[in-house]
Amino acid sequence: MTGFPIEVASRIKTLPPYLFAAIDKMKQAAIARGVDIINLGIGDPDLPTPAPIIDSLAEAARLPKHHQYPSYEGMLTFRQAVADWYHRRFSVKLDAANEVLTLIGSKEGIGHIHLAFVNPGDIVLVPSPGYPVYPVGTAFSGGLSHIMPLTRTNGFLPDLDAIPKDVAKKAKLMWLNSPNNPTSVVMTKEYFKRVVEFAYEHRIIVCHDAAYSEIFYDGKRPASFMEVDGAKEVGVEFHSLSKTYNMTGWRLGFVVGNRDVLAGLGKVKSNLDSGVFEAVQAAGITALGLDDTVTNHIRRIYQERRDTLVPGLKSIGLEVETPPAAFYIWVTVPNGHTSASFTAHLLEQAGIVTTPGNGFGAPGEGYVRMTVCTSKDRLAEAIERMKKLAM
Ligand SMILES: Cc1ncc(COP(=O)(O)O)c(C=O)c1O
Repeated sequence: MTGFPIEVASRIKTLPPYLFAAIDKMKQAAIARGVDIINLGIGDPDLPTPAPIIDSLAEAARLPKHHQYPSYEGMLTFRQAVADWYHRRFSVKLDAANEVLTLIGSKEGIGHIHLAFVNPGDIVLVPSPGYPVYPVGTAFSGGLSHIMPLTRTNGFLPDLDAIPKDVAKKAKLMWLNSPNNPTSVVMTKEYFKRVVEFAYEHRIIVCHDAAYSEIFYDGKRPASFMEVDGAKEVGVEFHSLSKTYNMTGWRLGFVVGNRDVLAGLGKVKSNLDSGVFEAVQAAGITALGLDDTVTNHIRRIYQERRDTLVPGLKSIGLEVETPPAAFYIWVTVPNGHTSASFTAHLLEQAGIVTTPGNGFGAPGEGYVRMTVCTSKDRLAEAIERMKKLAM
């Protein structure tokens, strides 16, 4: 039998080109040449999951009651642990049964929520540069992204006044992300208050992505969107155990807030997935119940790394802000370079992998993103290598 051409759906065909492919290719070629690569491209903690969480999984995995399908919305005990954590961390009260939903990592919920609320042709307000799942989830549901550019001029915050009135009127959903990937910028409660007013005025569902809320520096804890009056009436907040507890591989996250929004997302989920392995949720309960010494320790390590990389980059004349949170450094490329050429230059001449800023959306052109998911010694080595380069 001869085959026939397999044609993908237009939603796949119209995906933006994968801008990281070229850098991946160059990285593989450098590795094949035997180059000692320093990877400042990955946004994945290199530290292990804390031992009590692993112990808890091992114990819970042995219990036959955890071997069956979990409930699609998550174990009530896990959702109660989320509510307790929220109260401890943000002084926000949540009803575990209706205002918390378990996710298979926050990416899963971020991608799927569009299916619940966005009709073909609806507008979704999307910050750019930003996490690519916001525009892709929008496109998969037939929606149209309206880009909110994050630039130095607007402090890398979406300028609500710059959104045309007719766009705001038609918008169904708005994405925000603080602490931000890739800029690391943090939104204040004052900013969130303006967002709530804007959302009320235009009847827009706010989806705040707080995946990095626990990676912060100098003891300055980022606010939750839910801390602001009226937030629960207009939106939801996505969280993840991935970055907070070095659990990216475990796939455990959650979303909290407006019960009607959660019910819509829950309906999509109940038709597409079957929830999170209960032993993983049991380990999640342990994680959320850990005292601050564990997360303080993780933060201290990232802070030491940040305080190695940022002054090092400044000392070689690169323009960079000191991030208040998250593990990303948003670096302006030197004059004469583009995001792509500077990324290639660092890789080919110094064996350093970074991510081109335009890979996060066109307004990211002119920047590269570096991460501190690499040991302090390797970061110091990266600086030494960069010092020898002509910028
Ligand atoms: C901004 C942002 N949100 C959400 C996620 C998804 O994290 P997870 O699915 O592991 O919870 C990531 C992962 O890199 C991210 O950068």
